[in-house]
Formats: sequence, C-alpha cells, structure tokens
Amino acid sequence: CISPDLLDLHELANKTVIVVDIFRASSTMVTALSNGVNSIVPVKDLDQCKSYKKSGWLIAGERNGKQADGFDLGNSPLAYLDQAFAGQNVAMTTTNGTRAISLAREQASEVLIGSFLNLQATVDYLQTSTNDVLVLCAGWKGKFNLEDSLYAGALSLLLGWDHDCDATLGMEALYQQVGGDLQGFLQKASHAKRLQNHDLDKDIDFCLELNQFNSVVYLSEEGLKNKNN
Ligand code: MLT
Repeated sequence: CISPDLLDLHELANKTVIVVDIFRASSTMVTALSNGVNSIVPVKDLDQCKSYKKSGWLIAGERNGKQADGFDLGNSPLAYLDQAFAGQNVAMTTTNGTRAISLAREQASEVLIGSFLNLQATVDYLQTSTNDVLVLCAGWKGKFNLEDSLYAGALSLLLGWDHDCDATLGMEALYQQVGGDLQGFLQKASHAKRLQNHDLDKDIDFCLELNQFNSVVYLSEEGLKNKNN
C-alpha cells in the first residue's frame, strides 16, 4: 500500500491497482454502483465536472468534506441508498479520491475501487486474478491516513498472499488489533474528525460497515462500473 505523494507511477504498471478512499469517495462510489447507478465518471477538476450537467448527468462535487457550490450532490454514500439514482450517470469530483483514480488510470492494467463495504467481494475477485496488486491509498492532501491503510491491511490479511511491504505488514497487525471495532478506533482519525465537525457522523459509521455489497467496482472506458450488476 502506498500514498499518491510517495508514488513512482511506474510502480503501477501491469498491476491491478485498488484505489481506496474510505472517508468517503470510494465508499460512496461502491454504494452508488450497488444501488443502480449506471456509471460514475471520476473527474479531477470542479469546472470540468460541472460541464457534464449539460449532458443530463448528475454532478457530485466535494471539497474539504463539504458539498461544492453548484453541484447536485456532495459525497455522502447515504444519498445513493434505496436505488435513489438508479439508471443515472454521475460525474464526480472529490478532494483526494478522484485525484488518486486519475493517477492510477495512467499506468495500471486494471483499476478497482476498494471499500470496507465491498471488501470480501473484491478479495474473491482478486483470488481469480494472476496480477500483482497495489493498494493506492488516497490519504488526505498527500498525507497518510489511518482508514485507507487499514483497508490495505484487511485486504492483505484476507488474500493471504506473500508480500515484502512493511507498510502492509504494519497495517495487517493493526487491523488484527482493531478490526473488530473499526468505528471505535477510527473516531479519532483526522478525517473522521473533519466529518464530525460537519455533523456527518452517520457517514463515518456507514463507511466502516463490512461487506454490505457484493460488488466489484472497476474503471472501464465509460467510467466506473459494477462487475456484479
Ligand atoms: C476525499 O476525496 O478525500 C474524500 O472523499 C473527502 C470526503 O468525501 O470527505
């Protein structure tokens, strides 16, 4: 597992890259595509994202944890529950998550979106693959964060593959200690605190639920799709 700021893009070549942004981009993408959304186009730039509105797309924009001005949606996974936007296409831009996806798409042979919500479905899919896997942790503005790296530790433990990554080794050990109470442990994570300041506690708890969806979310030519739809 690695953060974008430490990344040598060539490390992504010929690998399956799992982009993870637990609070909340990847959790929101998985929830939306598990609730009937047709596809999600991840966009780095706010204005470029807004331009999709002219084509009848829903536009979802978040910066610093809050809904960006002029957008239909922010970045809460709860907004997509109960098939709320089934059949629609969404253009989405977030502070870190969509930036990490744009890095991954440049070199990776396959890009998946990882979250605790579809953890086991992703593990099951990877067990059928022969690719090496790299978990690209979105982090916060180039900094390490706990939740994304804990996901990498959980994924590695469940895969049971050999690796020589100390960061993954450390996160496997931490997940073994705290995995039974993610909500309790991650209350003190920096982005959880930011979200708490915006009264988004329900988002935090939902993003830490395990295996709510049997979805494998991947990046296609048309954007993010659910293999199990
Ligand atoms: C991100 O891109 O860093 C997150 O999705 C931010 C958020 O949704 O709060």
